[in-house]
Amino acid sequence: MIAFSFTENQLAVRDMAREIAQKIIMPDITEYDRSQKMNPRLLPAMAEANLLGFCIPEKYGGLGMDYISLGLASEELEYGDTSARVILSVHIGLFSLPVLTWANEEQKQKYLVPAAKGEKIATFGLTEPSAGTDAVGIKSTAVKDGDYYILNGEKMWISLADMADYFLIFAWTDQEKKKKRIHSGLSAFIVERDWEGVSTGSIHGKLGVRAGNTGYISFQDVKVPAKNLVYQEGAGFKIAMFCLDQGRYTVAAGSTGLIRACRDACIKYAKERQTFGVNIEQHQLVKQMIANMEAGYEYSRYLWLKAGWLKNQGKRSTKATSLAKWIACREAEAAAANAVQVHGAYGFSDEYPVERFYRNAKGASIYEGTREIHTIMQADYVLGFRQDKELERDLPPVEQ
Ligand code: CAA
Repeated sequence: MIAFSFTENQLAVRDMAREIAQKIIMPDITEYDRSQKMNPRLLPAMAEANLLGFCIPEKYGGLGMDYISLGLASEELEYGDTSARVILSVHIGLFSLPVLTWANEEQKQKYLVPAAKGEKIATFGLTEPSAGTDAVGIKSTAVKDGDYYILNGEKMWISLADMADYFLIFAWTDQEKKKKRIHSGLSAFIVERDWEGVSTGSIHGKLGVRAGNTGYISFQDVKVPAKNLVYQEGAGFKIAMFCLDQGRYTVAAGSTGLIRACRDACIKYAKERQTFGVNIEQHQLVKQMIANMEAGYEYSRYLWLKAGWLKNQGKRSTKATSLAKWIACREAEAAAANAVQVHGAYGFSDEYPVERFYRNAKGASIYEGTREIHTIMQADYVLGFRQDKELERDLPPVEQ
């Protein structure tokens, strides 16, 4: 059973994230979005508020909070701007939780502790210029050479590429399996920015998430110590899918926050704007759009809460997470499109936040599993082509 109330600790995390959204993100988000730059105060503020490691156990530098808290923080940050929630997605969802689950003790001490304390920033690199959804289509290679792997390749569309200190990178260690596209030829490595042969750059001209950093990483004959292999050779695909179970969860909860932001912007505007002698809140078709936003918000929230509850129990959540991600992103796109509509011509300019919501909502139906992939996955579950078997490793359960 999901409890329909939150614990004091969960509410404290929510309030902390809400405060960051209200005080750090929202006052000048339009300027940062226009200039396509990240607010330099955001990461330090999140680190100071312990928002970069709160659901990592205390023994690894975090606060030991649960995964529902991660969802609540994602909702609040994306209410401010998608770019802020993306930080949680990559730093915690796609790096710290996978390192907690799959890495050895030495790796956890070296990389997880500073990431959880917010002293170092981390991200994840699977996608390449020619492979996104098709994860086994990546080309990067890591060839064993004594105590090292020689890493070559290019990663693309990587959030925080130009800011992260650590990267969780996926590459082929078995070249025969690469040719045959057998996933057990892929491996995962922790790579540091400062190593020779690592270079990064930012992508400009994005449709949305303009106040966030997205870029590419290039690896040219990078000597990765063999001790930076995560878990074991051949486990890369499973680790990548595990990462996405956590990242997609934060996207689902974040998109739920975006729906709420659309709804609230429309309520405010509908109470101010008059047409035909009345506030537009009196018009039934405006009411319908706002009602749809409320419905989308409520059911998106129940879906990510269900996934969060499964994670808290230490139960596999791939199906629930995929469903939550698909539906929340779909509803966020619809809510944002209607939010622009409710604002009429004003919705078409950045004088109001809804055009930013509209542009930001689009990205989430593409990254971390396109809406098409999640649609196919859900059909395959019910048709019996796919099932969530117990995993070799899964998130450690947490007390709430
Ligand atoms: N956790 C752990 N293991 C998992 C898993 C999970 N969630 N899901 C699958 N596995 C394991 C399976 O158990 C299976 O193991 P065995 O072979 O031992 O039985 C193995 O992985 C293969 O599983 P599937 O057969 O289910 O894999 P598939 O080939 O059907 O997957 C797919 C196809 C669903 C399309 C999958 O490749 C996928 O989700 N692709 C999308 C990738 C994606 O989202 N990319 C975007 C990344 S975002 C990014 O990189 C940018 C950024 O900055 C964040």
